[in-house]
Amino acid sequence: MTGAGISMSAGIPDFRSPDTGLYANLARLNLPYAEAVFDISYFRKNPLPFYTLAHELYPGRYRPTITHSFISLLNKKGLLHRLFTQNIDCLEREAGVPDDKIVEAHGSFATQRCIECRTPYSEKEMREHVKKMEVPRCTQSHCQGLVKPDIVFFGEQLPAKFFQEREAPAQADLCFVMGTSLTVQPFASLPSFVDDRVPRVLINLERVGGIGNRSDDVLVLGDCDTGVRKIAEACGWLEELEAEWALT
Ligand code: APR
Repeated sequence: MTGAGISMSAGIPDFRSPDTGLYANLARLNLPYAEAVFDISYFRKNPLPFYTLAHELYPGRYRPTITHSFISLLNKKGLLHRLFTQNIDCLEREAGVPDDKIVEAHGSFATQRCIECRTPYSEKEMREHVKKMEVPRCTQSHCQGLVKPDIVFFGEQLPAKFFQEREAPAQADLCFVMGTSLTVQPFASLPSFVDDRVPRVLINLERVGGIGNRSDDVLVLGDCDTGVRKIAEACGWLEELEAEWALT
């Protein structure tokens, strides 16, 4: 279960770290409040702040971190049951985690469509617009609605896959929670669905979400890249992990 903290060392800011987090640095977009940049009703009125941000965050400019590669290594070892991520940067896919194992709970930049008639929009066109920080409009003549990547904005439904896969945490025999403040529902409830006989390992700069309250919870506090190296070393996988990351 991952959040923005695992992409920090790739150069993508997280949301809520004081000073460096995205929400602390959106003043230049003069939003009524920081999260408006991902609010669907605000987007309808003023899509430009989102497209200014999309210009900086759009996939293709960032390399996966060794934490992304750790997840890919777990998969290669046949140990990854499911990855629930809140991140929209697609770095898990770029690190080699197969699509059928990934649940992008808050969507991602991978696809885009008109928010009015839902007609899919071409990725090539989207990249062009994002590069020029222009707001793309629906190509259906009768429509002309705003186009938005399939990122889940505040006020929108999470992808069906999130609800279809809700049983996965209860099927796990080990749970990693990495790089998330666990502040946004319903994602934040996922660790509580892990069977209480199953260890939950938090790899995060700070304690979050009540992890540590169960007797077999494990806290690996600090930078997640350091944390996953520690775990890989304990498993005798450090060389394999570095080699996996070198492939990205
Ligand atoms: N290593 C480990 N943990 C880190 C690192 C790091 N290098 N950098 C930051 N963190 C931790 C922070 O301490 C914080 O607990 O990662 C967490 C990041 O929390 P947020 O910034 O709130 O990001 P996230 O949990 O992914 O946000 C959830 O909020 O705005 C919505 O939709 C957006 O998906 C996002 C959701």
